[in-house]
Amino acid sequence: MPESRVASPLMDEVRAGLLSSPKRLPPALFYDSAGSALFEQITELIEYYPTRTERGILERHGEDMLHTAGSELEMLELGSGSSAKTHLLLRALLERQEHASYAPIDVSLSALEQAKATLAEVFPGLEVRPIHGDFLEGLASLDGSRRKRLVLFLGSTIGNFDPAHATDFLRAVRENLHPGDALLIGMDLAKTPSVLIPAYDDSAGVTAKFNLNVLARLNREAGADFKLEGFRHVARWNEAESRIEMHLESRSRQSVRVAALDLDLSLDKGERIHTENSYKYRPGAGEAILRDAGWTLERTWTDEQNWFALHLARH
Ligand code: AVJ
Repeated sequence: MPESRVASPLMDEVRAGLLSSPKRLPPALFYDSAGSALFEQITELIEYYPTRTERGILERHGEDMLHTAGSELEMLELGSGSSAKTHLLLRALLERQEHASYAPIDVSLSALEQAKATLAEVFPGLEVRPIHGDFLEGLASLDGSRRKRLVLFLGSTIGNFDPAHATDFLRAVRENLHPGDALLIGMDLAKTPSVLIPAYDDSAGVTAKFNLNVLARLNREAGADFKLEGFRHVARWNEAESRIEMHLESRSRQSVRVAALDLDLSLDKGERIHTENSYKYRPGAGEAILRDAGWTLERTWTDEQNWFALHLARH
């Protein structure tokens, strides 16, 4: 292996994806610091309804959700990011409990540090125990506390997995918890493409930038020479699979070198690199995934338009 070759699980996935046909890149590649900042911008776009819709449901029903989950809870969160929506639940938790602890689990160290600093300011009484790492490793690393756990998995992040992998993942989450523990999971629901498409192809071009950032990142971190102007952001609704897909489409026939992976690629005009799936759940589909993963669905909360669902499931 050449000295310069970057070895990491993420870069191994990049290599495998660029060598497959059709070409693909892992969505984890979006979230370097530039991409995480762009994602925060996406959540504030008028066209991107999921964040504000989920926040609305949490504002309205957060206390009810905690009440349903049980008393004397220890809260954990998978993929906490900036933890902004979680503040609503933490506020309600601190009103109910003398002692409250919160463990955000994230692969991004900067996101965890940021969240810890903000939480210390906003909630001085809260015990924050950040866990740096993979979701499942993070859950597995927990010590045997006696408290009932409530695991948050918000934002329809589950929608990046195809249904079979989503089921496997939620089964593994469950296996790292105890009987009586609960999962609160956000799932984006299927709706008209006239709402879905603009949410992933906004007029300000922020999502396009977010998508193209994966190429910019490979240029920065893997010595690639992608010309960003040579690619077009594409968001399409795949009706059969009930998912939004994001792709990067080559505007011309071109070649690209990824030096650190010792990879020479050629792309045809119109050829696409598939960067993300975002599943939108039809009635019963999200519930079926939870059930197949061994969870018992206890309650579901949605918004008035039925655009987004939060499910509370029990181990
Ligand atoms: C963070 C995976 C939930 O699928 O809506 C936003 C990521 N991609 N705009 C989503 C995303 C394009 C987002 N998730």
